Amino acid sequence: MAKKVAILISGSGSNMQALVQTAAAADYPAEVVAVISNIPSATGLARAANDGIATHVLDHTLFDSREAYDDALHALIMSTGAEIVCLAGFMRILTPEFVNRWTGQMLNIHPSLLPSYRGLHTHRRALADGVTITGCTVHFVVPELDAGPAIIQAAVPVLSNDDEKALAARVLAAEHQIYPQALRWLAEGKVSLNSEGRIQRNGNAVVDTPSILIVP
Ligand code: GRF
Repeated sequence: MAKKVAILISGSGSNMQALVQTAAAADYPAEVVAVISNIPSATGLARAANDGIATHVLDHTLFDSREAYDDALHALIMSTGAEIVCLAGFMRILTPEFVNRWTGQMLNIHPSLLPSYRGLHTHRRALADGVTITGCTVHFVVPELDAGPAIIQAAVPVLSNDDEKALAARVLAAEHQIYPQALRWLAEGKVSLNSEGRIQRNGNAVVDTPSILIVP
């Protein structure tokens, strides 16, 4: 049976839409049951609704503390029946308590080849450094920001005439390829996080290096 997934967004939701549209295929092992935004005006909410997905807003400005927000978020996710959480441009730091409740069942997508360029403005920083290859990473979420074990990365060349916008768009297209792949593997049990916090593939081999998609 397909694993139920909740997707958390704060913005445009293009990764969310890539997951929703891939998951619509009958043979995909995961089913998106909810899209949740902390921002009431997030444009991704309309995109999700258009695709027939139940949407929820949990406005963080209405909560007194991060802990109170994350408790409500956890309760909301549980009420949807979701077993897996995908962060897709969810622009909030999550408490360790929340993260630990979803250990091994929560993924994030980040627009860099982690461990390079954790945090914000990844493309600007990559261009300033003059790197020739950048990319994106899907990783398990751990309490430390952008630090969880990587499942898959896409390597994207930086072109000589790239500006931040052009590079971001090319990396985003690669994000839309690797996120559905990573969710597929998690839902099928082909990747999991073991008790030492390392990635196991197919239930046995521990593999610390991510799969790589090379974008020409
Ligand atoms: C993506 O670049 C993702 O890697 C980052 O936030 C952005 C979200 O874009 N975490 P979208 O909302 O999926 O279009």
